[in-house]
This record gives sequence, C-alpha cells and structure tokens, in this order.
Amino acid sequence: MKIAIGCDHGGIVLKPAIVDLLQSREIEVVDFGCYSTDSVDYPDFALKVAESVSKKEVDLGIVLCGTGIGISIAANKVKGIRAAVAHDLFTAEMCKRHNNANILAMGGRVVSIDLAVEMTKKWLDTEFEGGRHTNRINKITAIEDKYFK
Ligand code: RB5
Repeated sequence: MKIAIGCDHGGIVLKPAIVDLLQSREIEVVDFGCYSTDSVDYPDFALKVAESVSKKEVDLGIVLCGTGIGISIAANKVKGIRAAVAHDLFTAEMCKRHNNANILAMGGRVVSIDLAVEMTKKWLDTEFEGGRHTNRINKITAIEDKYFK
C-alpha cells in the first residue's frame, strides 16, 4: 500500500508520528510537505495529496492542518476525492465504513498526537461497508459529474 501525506504549519505536529505508524506497517509514504512550522498555505498541500489520490498514484491520502477543515475543503475540490475530517475514533471509523473516505483529514490544534495515530489506525483498519452506502457514494459522484469539468 502507498499513502500520500501533506500538511500545513498547523498540522505538522501530527505528521512524524503518523509517518512512523505507516512505515511500521510497511506502507510506502509519499510526503508532500510541508517540512517546517513556517507559515504556508494549506490548499497547496491539499492539492498535491488529492491529485496523487485522484490519479491513483497512491491508494489513500492523509491531510493535516490546524483544524483539518481548510485542507479537507481544498482536497474535496479535486474530482474523485472524498476527504473527511475526523476528530475521534467514531468519526475516523465511520468516514471509511459509510463514506469510503479516500483522504483522512485531522487538525493539529484539535486532536493529540496519540489520538491522531489511533484514528489513523482505525481508518486504515476499517472496510467500506458497501450496500446502500455504495448508492450514496454513486450519488456524490453524480454531483461531481454534473458540476466538475
Ligand atoms: C492556519 O493558521 C490555519 O488556518 C489552518 O491550519 C487550518 O486550520 C485551516 O483550516
């Protein structure tokens, strides 16, 4: 498995522990930055991760900003992306089980490093349930087809 990760200065605090987790599972990590706490613009990093997921260069993506909100909004502008902000184990599980989120977004100013690691495990270890949820995902794709070029 291959996972892309990207963050801004508000989310970078979570990145090293998540990268360690992924590497401990022998998951190949593509780290699109940022690489310091200098102020940057989260859409730049959302775009890199989202494009790499959308083009299927990687299997999944993880994006991190202060809240997880801005970077997920930006990632969701790329066709085929279902980026979900999670802030606890329940939302980390459900965004995969019901929404088949292909990008997990978390906030470095919202969750602790330990919780972010546990949420990442939960999201990775949860399977999409399919069934009635497939129909709903297909309706999301239909909205993309209507409004995206
Ligand atoms: C940066 O200060 C902050 O706005 C950003 O990390 C994120 O929280 C935006 O949604």
